[in-house]
Amino acid sequence: MDAYVTPTFRGRGIFTSLHSRAEEYLLRAEPIKLIRITVLSNNAEAVHAYKKAGYEPEELIMVKKVV
Ligand SMILES: CC(C)(COP(=O)(O)OP(=O)(O)OC[C@H]1O[C@@H](n2cnc3c(N)ncnc32)[C@H](O)[C@@H]1OP(=O)(O)O)[C@@H](O)C(=O)NCCC(=O)NCCS
Repeated sequence: MDAYVTPTFRGRGIFTSLHSRAEEYLLRAEPIKLIRITVLSNNAEAVHAYKKAGYEPEELIMVKKVV
């Protein structure tokens, strides 16, 4: 899943509302047990929005830059 809301409309609940509708659709359409999303750890706004939607950190991906 990728989420993007135009900057001037952020913080008005658009993501929360769209996510809720998408989740309802998925749960009706498929026998899913979890939804996985990835987000950069320094993207505090997205992490906040995802936590508000019920997601919790589970897996830590570590990266080493070699160039
Ligand atoms: C992450 C993103 C999709 C959230 O969309 P949104 O419509 O602004 O989210 P909501 O309005 O539903 O807000 C959800 C929570 O995040 C907070 N929030 C979201 N964007 C914010 C911002 N720019 N500044 C402050 N708070 C913000 C809201 O206040 C709300 O928390 P609260 O109810 O505790 O106040 C949006 O910020 C975005 O498009 N970011 C750039 C793209 C990006 O990083 N996408 C994620 C890639 S993984």
